Amino acid sequence: MKIKTIWSLTFLVFMSFWKIALLTDAEISCNFKQSCILPCSFQSYGEPILHWTQLESSELRVHSYYDNQDQLGPQNQNFRGRTSLFQDQISRGNASLLLREVQLQDQGRYNCYIRTIKGHEESIIRLSVDAPVSTIRIYQDGNRITCSSEGIYPQPELTWSTEPPSNTTLQNRTTVHQTEEKLYDISSSLTVPDGSDRIYSCTIRTRRNQRRATFRKLSSVTVTTDETTLPCSGLNGSVMTVVWRFDHQTVLNQTGRNRSVSERWRKHVKDVSEHGDLSLQGLDPDLEGNYSCETSNKDETMVTQITVKIEDKSSWIIWLVIGIIFMIVIFSSLLCFWCKR
Ligand SMILES: *[C@@H]1O[C@H](CO)[C@@H](O)[C@H](O)[C@H]1NC(C)=O
Ligand SMILES: *[C@@H]1O[C@H](CO)[C@@H](O)[C@H](O)[C@H]1NC(C)=O
Ligand SMILES: *[C@@H]1O[C@H](CO)[C@@H](O)[C@H](O)[C@H]1NC(C)=O
Ligand SMILES: *[C@@H]1O[C@H](CO)[C@@H](O)[C@H](O)[C@H]1NC(C)=O
Ligand SMILES: *[C@@H]1O[C@H](CO)[C@@H](O)[C@H](O)[C@H]1NC(C)=O
Ligand SMILES: *[C@@H]1O[C@H](CO)[C@@H](O)[C@H](O)[C@H]1NC(C)=O
Ligand SMILES: *[C@@H]1O[C@H](CO)[C@@H](O)[C@H](O)[C@H]1NC(C)=O
Repeated sequence: MKIKTIWSLTFLVFMSFWKIALLTDAEISCNFKQSCILPCSFQSYGEPILHWTQLESSELRVHSYYDNQDQLGPQNQNFRGRTSLFQDQISRGNASLLLREVQLQDQGRYNCYIRTIKGHEESIIRLSVDAPVSTIRIYQDGNRITCSSEGIYPQPELTWSTEPPSNTTLQNRTTVHQTEEKLYDISSSLTVPDGSDRIYSCTIRTRRNQRRATFRKLSSVTVTTDETTLPCSGLNGSVMTVVWRFDHQTVLNQTGRNRSVSERWRKHVKDVSEHGDLSLQGLDPDLEGNYSCETSNKDETMVTQITVKIEDKSSWIIWLVIGIIFMIVIFSSLLCFWCKR
């Protein structure tokens, strides 16, 4: 008797877990603009009738299949041209739906309904969409450092940090803007004290990922010969892309082994190291100014700015000419003096 009770209790508990397991929606997360598979499987038996619907305030038809073919007549136009089934897999009980070019309004619950001559089955999938943080821009403009990124979902969070840490709160202002596509653009400016040599980092986080961008300034270099190497990076691990800029023009751009040097700079760029250090040649005073190097890897971007001063060689030549003339004058007057005697 007792054993029987235990058994039936165990059975009840098991059944309720089973129910919860059945009632809990499967969750999947898809990336914005990419393709995504909504999984669904069933006990295959003869020719199935299959309906995928989105459970909104009303039930929207996503994709139907019966009589051994797609039935897209009543399909809701939000899904037009973006859905397909794996037709060769249906007979094996695979009714998964391939959804392409995922949009934010695709978020929500989906029902997969299948009827065979044995009966019907249903399962519910909850789909969420993410647009991860991709690239961050960071730059200095006067006494402000600005950090920004675009096309993120859901709403991101932005934080600043400095190296070495600052003992006062830094004045910062962050604005978030939602585009027509419901994606978020975020931008933040930090006011930096004059002549500060701190390293500034901004981190943007969202549900799916986070990225960090760092801005640092190296002390200026003065170049006297017509060749020099400008240091870059400071990023750990493998560097994926390097972009060198002079004022606001791009000098070169390197992704893996692919390098593209702008026309104007071809005669000046001698080499770029694996870490992004730039060797220049044929320097002339026109090339004096602010250089910046932007390196990125999987989750970080680092911008290094360096001011280059070029010692003007023409002034050397003028001094040399003046010196020679001076020598000639002295020499000839000495000569004259000597002649007269
Ligand atoms: C259904 O088929 C697709 C495509 O081959 C596959 O990616 C997916 O994992 C399959 N799903 C199930 C539940 O078997
Ligand atoms: C912050 O640190 C500097 C020196 O690093 C010090 O002079 C200043 O008093 C400190 N300010 C505060 C509010 O602690
Ligand atoms: C940015 O400003 C907020 C308040 O406006 C402050 O709480 C936060 O500490 C500031 N961030 C930094 C890095 O100082
Ligand atoms: C690089 O790694 C070293 C040690 O692993 C660490 O101390 C340093 O802060 C890292 N630098 C950056 C820029 O992450
Ligand atoms: C770098 O070059 C590639 C092609 O060469 C181009 O698609 C990309 O936009 C360039 N990036 C920058 C920052 O100029
Ligand atoms: C380099 O360029 C070639 C052709 O332009 C391309 O096939 C290859 O994927 C590129 N490699 C990287 C790492 O971008
Ligand atoms: C270079 O940057 C400094 C500030 O970092 C600025 O004062 C200076 O005007 C810049 N020079 C040029 C040529 O843009």
